[in-house]
Amino acid sequence: MTRYEQLAGAIRQQIEDDIWQVGDKLPSLRESVKSSGLSLMTVLQAYQLLESQGWIVARPQSGYYVATRLTQFAAAKGGKGLHLSENVEISASIFDVLQACKDPKIVPFGSAFPDPSLLNEPKLSKILASVARRFVPHSSLESLPPGNEKLRRNISRRYAAHGIHVSPEEIVITAGAMESLSFSLQSVTSPGDWVVIESPAFYGALQAIERLRLKAIAIKTDPRTGIDLDALEEIVQKYPIKACWLMSRFQNPLCNTMPSENKQRLVAILNSSHIALIEDDVYGELYFDQEPPMPIKAWDKENNFMHCSSFSKCLAPGYRVGWVAAGKHAGKIQQLQMMSTVSASAPTQLAVAEYLAHGGYDNHLRRLRRQLEQRQSQILRAISEYFPDSVKVNSARGGYFLWLEFEPPFNANRLYQLALAKGISIAPGSMFSTSSQFDHAFRLNTSFAWNDVQASAMKTLAGLCHTLLRECG
Ligand SMILES: Cc1ncc(COP(=O)(O)O)c(C=O)c1O
Repeated sequence: MTRYEQLAGAIRQQIEDDIWQVGDKLPSLRESVKSSGLSLMTVLQAYQLLESQGWIVARPQSGYYVATRLTQFAAAKGGKGLHLSENVEISASIFDVLQACKDPKIVPFGSAFPDPSLLNEPKLSKILASVARRFVPHSSLESLPPGNEKLRRNISRRYAAHGIHVSPEEIVITAGAMESLSFSLQSVTSPGDWVVIESPAFYGALQAIERLRLKAIAIKTDPRTGIDLDALEEIVQKYPIKACWLMSRFQNPLCNTMPSENKQRLVAILNSSHIALIEDDVYGELYFDQEPPMPIKAWDKENNFMHCSSFSKCLAPGYRVGWVAAGKHAGKIQQLQMMSTVSASAPTQLAVAEYLAHGGYDNHLRRLRRQLEQRQSQILRAISEYFPDSVKVNSARGGYFLWLEFEPPFNANRLYQLALAKGISIAPGSMFSTSSQFDHAFRLNTSFAWNDVQASAMKTLAGLCHTLLRECG
């Protein structure tokens, strides 16, 4: 982390801890230079970063103030927030929301995909074309489970670059992360078993649990710190939990990242009860700071954690290439794959393997992260300008989602219907839970380029929120 990011992080923490409250004037640049011992440029960059994230605003000739509009989430207090589902049935409305995102005429704030124009990597297309020309039937055999060896070795090197030891033998290549997650869950459960998930959770987790006829315990997940570990500790004493499925980096939909101390405590809780972890980490590469936060897999000493990811969100959504670093479950997962989809597509495995070796993936990722950060700032500014003051926003240093909440009885399902009628999609909170506890919240995709259409859609959405709040009284 650079010095200015460290300073920005420290001030952000002070705002979160209420040391600086909404409307307070922050120390002037000169005062901050004096107290921190940093250069004027470093302090200015820190203030500008906080401004771009919506934490503070600059008032000409006056200084920087804690932003009044965007209420950040305070740490959740009290209440276990548990939700037990013996029969997980996820609403068919999810498919309607996903369907709406496919219509190019709809402004896709509800989409789970990044702006496709960000993933237009001509080098990858060229490599795929060349792979296809050279492709012979024998090449398919090399891609059978556990998957293309060169690809597994390159993925393994990417873990090593962050100090995480994952051998190519424990990696299984799959058709996207959804498949790796599903097989991981299936490898450690039988129908009727209990699984812990987050609340709110990625709807894919709910769908997988429904399909495998498992029982779910959803544990309250804090928009800042992640799953409630006190509640988890109690639950693992009371229920024979087989697996815990969660996201520790840029969670979908909250976009929060668990602090490292929480990750370590989670590892201790799971290991003490021999519970397998299924870590969904599809947004892990999309961090904005200099260094990424670590996945929980980094602390896995017992090889009982399955770290699932893919290239769908950061390189090639349609290629359907994902993987799981499966530890001791790698063999079982290969068997499950052989019994269902057999393998991920051979030409796309080969193309991604080649691209990772020669294509400049890290340059592409650096550019992508910068663009996502800029686009997030733009949407945060628009929210701060147009939305009702009572909105709470969870922004993060990575990913491309914002989680917004109003006080109940605000109804985001109704907002979804009204917005869709005006050609705008959002992802209502109800998609991320089997209960109605997130009906007052929604998720926005911030990855799309800011233009007149986006600006006008944000104003319309804000107008609808004002109307709905008035109706709530
Ligand atoms: C949290 C999360 N996990 C997994 C997936 C699925 O990833 P893939 O497209 O690689 O299957 C998604 C896609 O939206 C996601 O948001």
